[in-house]
Amino acid sequence: MSESPLNIVILAAGKGTRMYSQLPKVLHEIGGISMLARVIHTAQTLNPERICVVIGHGKELVRKRIHTDVQWVEQAEQLGTGHAVKTALPHLSAQGRTLVLYGDVPLIDSGTLRQLLDTTDKEVGLLTDVLDNPTGYGRIIRDDGGEVAAIIEEKDASATQKAIKETNTGIFVLPNAKLPQWLDALQSNNAQGEYYLTDVIALARQDGIGVHPLPVRASHLAAGVNNKVQLAELERILQQEQAQALLTAGITLRDPMRFDLRGTLQHGQDVIIDVNVVCEGNVILGDGVQIGANCVIKNTVIGAETHIAPFSHLENCQVGSHARIGPYARLRPNAKLGDEVHVGNFVEIKNSTLGRGSKANHLSYLGDAQVGERSNIGAGTITCNYDGVNKHQTIIGNEVRIGSGNMLIAPVTIGDRATTGAGSAIGKDCPPNKLTLTRARQTTLENWVRPEKEDKKSS
Ligand code: UD1
Ligand code: MG
Repeated sequence: MSESPLNIVILAAGKGTRMYSQLPKVLHEIGGISMLARVIHTAQTLNPERICVVIGHGKELVRKRIHTDVQWVEQAEQLGTGHAVKTALPHLSAQGRTLVLYGDVPLIDSGTLRQLLDTTDKEVGLLTDVLDNPTGYGRIIRDDGGEVAAIIEEKDASATQKAIKETNTGIFVLPNAKLPQWLDALQSNNAQGEYYLTDVIALARQDGIGVHPLPVRASHLAAGVNNKVQLAELERILQQEQAQALLTAGITLRDPMRFDLRGTLQHGQDVIIDVNVVCEGNVILGDGVQIGANCVIKNTVIGAETHIAPFSHLENCQVGSHARIGPYARLRPNAKLGDEVHVGNFVEIKNSTLGRGSKANHLSYLGDAQVGERSNIGAGTITCNYDGVNKHQTIIGNEVRIGSGNMLIAPVTIGDRATTGAGSAIGKDCPPNKLTLTRARQTTLENWVRPEKEDKKSS
């Protein structure tokens, strides 16, 4: 690649009318990441001197949602792609080159862009495609010598031109030295009354500057999203590519068509993922981890040989090695489970730690709790951590046995090797090594008569 400074302009001012959404088009997500964030990330891999993002519709929200440091450029009125690039002109360097990308072409990859940059150093590069159905796209017009001479937009094209299947993807590389002059020369006397960036191709040829087309390796790389159908198509393509990469790297996906990754997945060897699993954010799975069907796992680290049984939901938490979680477990943010922990069905854990070998196997809620090692939480136990205003801690030592159906009214501390009786409401600290229980004595009323309705009595 050449050494001249590279500027990148990403066009993202359009409304996206056909998305029928309150959300600006470029903020719709593919693989859990907004289309614009994807394009910016790809742009960054090219080490440009600067990245300008042209925004208009929904600009406040776009700026708020994108956390990357880019040069924002506001295009008050969307007068066309040429006008959009012109708006960014004051931010571009005098020399070097500008790569134009679209915020709604999310799967463009750095390999293709590097190839495009390599087609020319000082002239014009243009990413093209050949489509069976080119409707809606700008058509590539070639001269008698087979050189690219111009681009004609669909709405301005003659019937003969419309039959051309070679199309403009919209992705260009342009010499900065020529840009001010070409952008100034653009006219809006066309079918859409817009300043078309595509007209710079004909202007380049007039100036004797070569136009170097590069056919895109696969259509989806340059495919734009104008509606939810196209969004869903690209989502499937991305998911299939990700699944193939994971399979190639040795993960077992029971069905690659029924796995969704919306973020990144790091994994060890012999990881097995059953059907309908969704991984979001950053997920790390150690060697031998098994994820059962229908689990959702978000921003979570899971240690080696741990099994997550079906229908479990894990978010922003950590699970040690050789643990058994689920089915139907819910681990909420800041749940930290040690090695060999068992968490069973309908157990919810939030902002709590469970030490090595501790168990909560049935129908419990543990919030703001610290549980030591090898302790057992009986079925149906709940930490009453919230007094309506503040959250309080429940501290449980090592080798504690909490009986079934306990209410642990925080703040409260249960000492090492303590036992609590079933059905207790524990509001005061429990000493170690002792049985504590808060149960009314069971009595039977010998003379009690069950009340009955009058009509039943008579019959
Ligand atoms: C454009 C190309 C067409 C190409 C097609 C590929 C032009 C004139 N036409 O057509 O040759 O085949 O893309 O998808 O360039 N935008 C702005 N400001 C504006 C206008 C557009 O930021 O004033 C942004 C849009 O948000 C979008 C991109 O530029 O991200 C393309 O604009 P769009 O209106 O979709 O152009 P097309 O008609 O699809
Ligand atoms: Mg478009």
